[in-house]
Amino acid sequence: MSHNHPEIIDNLSVDETSRNFYQNVMQTQMTRREVMAGVTAATAVAAGGSLLASCTGDGLMEAPTPAVTSIAKSLADRVVIPAGYTATVLYSLGDPVKAGIPAYKNDGTDTDFANRAGDHFDALYFFGMNAAGTFQADNSARGLLCMNHEALTEAFLHAGKIDNTRTNGNRRVSSQVLKEIEAHGISVIEVTRGVTGNGVTQVLDSAKNRRLTARTPMTFSGPAAGDARLKHKSYTANGATFGDGISTQGTLNNCANGYTPWGTYLTCEENWAGYFFRGKADQTRRDDIERYGIRTINAAGAAVDSVGFQGHNWDTADGNEEEFKRFDCTATGADGSADYRNVPNNFGYIVEVDPFNPASVIKKRTALGRMGHEGCWPGKITAGKPVTFYMGDDGRFEYIYKFVSSANWDPADVGGGVAAGDKYMNSGKLYAAKFDSSGNGTWLELAPGQNGLSSANGFGTQADVAIVTRRAADIAGATNMDRPEWATVNQANGDVFFTLTNNSGRGNGAATELPEIYKGGQDIGVDAANPRVNNGNGHIIRIREAGGDNSATNFRWEILVFGARADNAANNISQLTSVSDFSSPDGLWMDPRGLLWIQTDDGSTFTTGTGAAGSGSEALSNNQMLVTIPGEFGQVPVIRRFLVGPKGCELTGVDMTPDGKTMFVNIQHPGEVVTNLDLTKPATFQSHWPMGSNPLADAASGTARPRSSTIVITKDDGGIIGL
Ligand code: FEO
Ligand code: CA
Ligand code: CA
Ligand code: CA
Repeated sequence: MSHNHPEIIDNLSVDETSRNFYQNVMQTQMTRREVMAGVTAATAVAAGGSLLASCTGDGLMEAPTPAVTSIAKSLADRVVIPAGYTATVLYSLGDPVKAGIPAYKNDGTDTDFANRAGDHFDALYFFGMNAAGTFQADNSARGLLCMNHEALTEAFLHAGKIDNTRTNGNRRVSSQVLKEIEAHGISVIEVTRGVTGNGVTQVLDSAKNRRLTARTPMTFSGPAAGDARLKHKSYTANGATFGDGISTQGTLNNCANGYTPWGTYLTCEENWAGYFFRGKADQTRRDDIERYGIRTINAAGAAVDSVGFQGHNWDTADGNEEEFKRFDCTATGADGSADYRNVPNNFGYIVEVDPFNPASVIKKRTALGRMGHEGCWPGKITAGKPVTFYMGDDGRFEYIYKFVSSANWDPADVGGGVAAGDKYMNSGKLYAAKFDSSGNGTWLELAPGQNGLSSANGFGTQADVAIVTRRAADIAGATNMDRPEWATVNQANGDVFFTLTNNSGRGNGAATELPEIYKGGQDIGVDAANPRVNNGNGHIIRIREAGGDNSATNFRWEILVFGARADNAANNISQLTSVSDFSSPDGLWMDPRGLLWIQTDDGSTFTTGTGAAGSGSEALSNNQMLVTIPGEFGQVPVIRRFLVGPKGCELTGVDMTPDGKTMFVNIQHPGEVVTNLDLTKPATFQSHWPMGSNPLADAASGTARPRSSTIVITKDDGGIIGL
């Protein structure tokens, strides 16, 4: 494709496109900007030459400009969006999922989170639904909104200050553990438009409404199902029995998501390792434990003399419930059938849920590997071609993965539920990405006999790959990335975008990260695809598969943009300005019109700095959502700031109704900084957002506990968001 025909035009369908937008695209194609001025040859080389990929010698061509007037950065305790847009709060922490559940009091006394919104709203996805209650992809008036509840701000879930430690023999209170476990998982809620406008409301009496939690029964499928490493001491909870390596209880740390072309939701288990405790009495080195961050031995193989991870410590519950004790994975019995040493192997998967059929089995798809799964996004959907999924493993120096189904896509499978999932997600090839310095890359198949994997090094079967996937990718020689978070795929041309959020361990002189330890205890330095030492602000990478075929095994790549403070010229490789600067890209979504939405989860000075004004280390803004049009390979994206969130929040989760007129955005953990929290003194809360139903109202004067929430954004003129 030439520069005169950026793929955004291929994305446009006449009925979805405003005249203004079309004119805008045509005009901006004509503009050129000397964006390379000030970018030294050294930084361009450090960036893998990618910024020069399409340089014609007189500067790079700018990509089309989104039709959004950039808003200012904000440190206020409110949501800020551009003029001409309206926002409402749809659904917040603790809200009833169905009729008959009492309203949320938000004072720590509420119970029954299996029927309330969980905490830490993360990725979301809107599935259009028809009158018969089945999947209708193009229905904007009615649908099922699925979303993840990743984690907790524990302090606000309980009535008073809690002790969640395990030191000095402290034990958790079982009722608190139950609440915390049920506040994880996913929500499925029906939403509908009224007779006027594009706003939506929750349909509380819908039979589709439900919560899945870290207690809900699920089933393993794919190569690891039934494997001995998934089996554990048998226990019964809620009438179901677990431990046979086929049935398992719950999903944990559901971060980003994905969807399938047949109409199911994919929820992804990310930082599940942090929920487990392994006592120091168990010092046997096991890749399936240590390589995933549950450590009892250090890099040199010596015993770690501590009480282990101080997470939620659910295993200490004072009611001695077996379903809570399973979070202690210390080997204590004769083998894995006598204790819970293998329970961590029950987590770290892509989980498929059919939102339209509450009675259907929930399936953990082991063929897609076990890792800190951020998300799982389909490549371009083409009849007669394999179904493909792109996945990031969010850890420092972890990898980018791709799954290519054995079966070819048959559109007759739309609406096929988890039976269709069995067809496309249990058999296929799993790959990890290798990026070379010339701007090319290779997908390395992870399978016995491929890329150095063999029974001699622990990979004699595909089940070995499915359970210890990170180690397989280590051996295969995949490229260690700067924390791969979300991906998104341009469904018009197959281009793939990944956020690499940051990596403070990159080239920092210390080999403390797990891949560094497993690669011989060497500090991993920069490479072409991850070119910044101590990458504090992250970047976004673009992958273009050979022939535009998402099942290809070779690709080209470039860095689309580097995050930076605009006031830090030395670090601002992409020459961001005050209207476009950002740090730590995380959420990423290309809408059907080709707009790329970028959400941030920043911990750098950009968001948390405490320096004096003008010092360059003062906080510039709360986390935010930006929008751009990536244009053609080698073009410089023009970025506009669309939304800034309240204090202490992360922006994560964005989708729209298929007509583009109703946007859903999740505001995760407002007020998450609880260092000085005193629950009896609301002035010590970092945030009180949201203030009622208006997310734009300033919550600075509020007294309420903050709540993760889904907000709905519409355009005042009834038009398409972002155009
Ligand atoms: Fe849960 Fe990597 O974000
Ligand atoms: Ca390091
Ligand atoms: Ca994330
Ligand atoms: Ca993040």
